[in-house]
Amino acid sequence: MQAIQGSEGALLRRGMEREEMQSMQTIERKLWSVAACATVFVSLAVCSGPLNAQSLAGRWAATGPALMNGELHRSTLELAQTGSDLTGRLVALGYSVDVKGHSTGSHFELFAWDPKVPLIVGDLVNGELHWVQWNSPFVARPVTPETELPKLAYIEPPALHNVPYNGLAKTPPMGWNSWNLFAEKVDDKTVRTMADAMVSSGMKDAGYIYVNIDDTWEGVRDAKGNLQSNAKFPDMKALAEYVHSKGLKIGIYSSPGPRTCGEYPASYGHEEQDAKTFAAWGIDYLKYDWCSAGNIYKNDALQPVYQKMGDALHTSGRAIAYSLCEYGMGGVEKWAPAVSGNLWRTTGDINDSWESMIGNVEQQVPTAPYAGPGHWNDPDMLEIGNGHMTADEYRTHMSLWSLAAAPLLAGNDIRTMTETTRSILLNKEVIAIDQDPLGKQASPVKNGNFETWVKPLADGGVAVGVVNLGPAAAEATVKAADLKFAKVGKARDLWAHKDVKFTDGVYTASVPSHGVLLLRVEGK
Ligand code: GAL
Repeated sequence: MQAIQGSEGALLRRGMEREEMQSMQTIERKLWSVAACATVFVSLAVCSGPLNAQSLAGRWAATGPALMNGELHRSTLELAQTGSDLTGRLVALGYSVDVKGHSTGSHFELFAWDPKVPLIVGDLVNGELHWVQWNSPFVARPVTPETELPKLAYIEPPALHNVPYNGLAKTPPMGWNSWNLFAEKVDDKTVRTMADAMVSSGMKDAGYIYVNIDDTWEGVRDAKGNLQSNAKFPDMKALAEYVHSKGLKIGIYSSPGPRTCGEYPASYGHEEQDAKTFAAWGIDYLKYDWCSAGNIYKNDALQPVYQKMGDALHTSGRAIAYSLCEYGMGGVEKWAPAVSGNLWRTTGDINDSWESMIGNVEQQVPTAPYAGPGHWNDPDMLEIGNGHMTADEYRTHMSLWSLAAAPLLAGNDIRTMTETTRSILLNKEVIAIDQDPLGKQASPVKNGNFETWVKPLADGGVAVGVVNLGPAAAEATVKAADLKFAKVGKARDLWAHKDVKFTDGVYTASVPSHGVLLLRVEGK
């Protein structure tokens, strides 16, 4: 935010009130546009583009901070302005999104995915847009042919066919992924020490096997087009060997577009080559994120485009679990197994908040019938232990992901986790619900502030989770009849780690706000 505070602060320091500044800027803008457009020789582009006085309208080419591979973040921002209302589209190397917002004098804010938090906050300064996006400063000038984003040849998506199942992920994949906590701050040392901690903390023994590197590992392509890792990862093969030596598996990340969401080089037009590179490094898992493929293809190309990498992995010579990351678009649950997808995202990105967590798992309820051994709905990775939810909320997070047969990819710092976090991630009785071989995904029934999720298990029993969505503790009731049992046999509370008794076919317990009662129940 420094750039914003800096420029706004500087104007205020010159003794101008905000309203004064705004009316001066409006007058200036009017004078400018009269002068510019009244000039006979002035071109149309000047009257309609960002050079038109202080209007923000037009197409702007922005550069941001350097990537870890030495390239720069780049984007173009196309804006239309009506009064103080702004609408437009941001096309970055790695993604594109519609934006809308408003200007106040020379200051402006633009919103994209989150209607409450602006994606871009900036100012018009001497004919340039200076903005902050994701805590990084960007500077934009009117687009010129030199500053247009590179245009790549369109590659026709292939005809559809079935890619053979790779035999992996008979139960939902378990492991750790770097993104939720480390984002771009992941490197070789982090991954090695995390692998060590996966073993020493007991995560590996509990079934967390994959150590997955998310975006920002990528370097540039060499003269033969082979994708290199950047300086944070000096030797991917050696890193994979290290992770394997711990009895773990290693995952990596790319996109079917030319760039990842973090704007690093990705697999567009290099699918087979990259799959072979990953196989040669010893990679066991690929998360393949739509990102800039959306700059090239419409959503109807999702299946053939994901099929391309499915084929490439299939012929790579190595069994590589295939994780589709397409935010639930394009009816993915219906076709992902046909492209040999082992898991597919059903939602946008999770964040470490109750609303996001509960929203994601609820959003994927309609896809429940499509989950099963080898292919799973993925409401995104775990936030347990990242510090912005209560222990009760994290227990609910773990319970719901297990009831939903979701992949369990921890997203916290395993090396330093607290005993409470450990007790949640390593609750083996809850993990057993997630990993149940029947592979059924629970769906919820709502009753006031309670949401009850019932998951049938391979042994004929069920797991039942009653989540208290309300603001205060309340008494939850589980009835044998609701579980389709005439009578209840053994019943166990999986967080209290003790057997419980149904009386006359009913069990009642107090559940804290945002907490969960999670039982494993057998019929009789
Ligand atoms: C997002 C994805 C996140 C993370 C990020 C990396 O599209 O949903 O999980 O992978 O990209 O840039």
